[in-house]
Amino acid sequence: MRRYHDYADVVFDQSGHETHVIRHHDQLELHGIGRSAAVFRINGTALVIKVFFPGFTHIAAEEHVIYDTLQGVPHFPRLYEAGPNYIVIDYIAGKTLFECLTEGIWIDASYINQVDEALLAARALGLTPSDVHLRNIILSPDGRIYLIDLARFRQGQHVDHQWEDLKRMYRLYRLPFMPKRYSKRLLNAVAYLYRTFVNDPRQ
Ligand SMILES: Nc1ncnc2c1ncn2[C@@H]1O[C@H](COP(=O)(O)OP(=O)(O)O)[C@@H](O)[C@H]1O
Ligand SMILES: [Mg+2]
Repeated sequence: MRRYHDYADVVFDQSGHETHVIRHHDQLELHGIGRSAAVFRINGTALVIKVFFPGFTHIAAEEHVIYDTLQGVPHFPRLYEAGPNYIVIDYIAGKTLFECLTEGIWIDASYINQVDEALLAARALGLTPSDVHLRNIILSPDGRIYLIDLARFRQGQHVDHQWEDLKRMYRLYRLPFMPKRYSKRLLNAVAYLYRTFVNDPRQ
């Protein structure tokens, strides 16, 4: 039985560049919004429901398959339910590494190692991790790292080098004279330039 099916009945407004949530189930609280979906906390649970925008709903099935493959692997949320336009997964308390940078929270080398461990485990299961960037990595209050947004881990697809590039940037970040806090505006501008000129634009 699909327990959360009705919760996925979300109304979006897709006029202009950004997508906004117009209406959602009263047991949901908007938590985050990405480029393909809105993520809501489900009241009274430790879960979130990721509801894909119209035009992106096919990603639900793709992400579902990846979560099934990774079931029980540390550093990844667990999946509880999936439907035609949504998935239900563990809520991960904490901050994305993007938020850490904008709030000046120190990003320790041990967090970078944890991401590497997670990617290694995913590859060992035959997946090809891609789209690993600061907004898709969550640091929990007890110093544990979780990866989310896994649709682009699917087997046999083009692999990007974002994470390797981010690790190069991390070497810079660690230098004592480098700032440890950056404005959203600057990070978004760098991300835009990176997507447009460095990362494979065909992806
Ligand atoms: N399991 C989760 N726990 C806590 N926050 C999450 C979770 N999944 C997503 N989020 C938040 O929602 C945002 C959008 O989710 P994401 O899966 O990255 O969507 P998209 O595929 O559209 O990029 C994330 O950047 C993060 O802030
Ligand atoms: Mg994302």
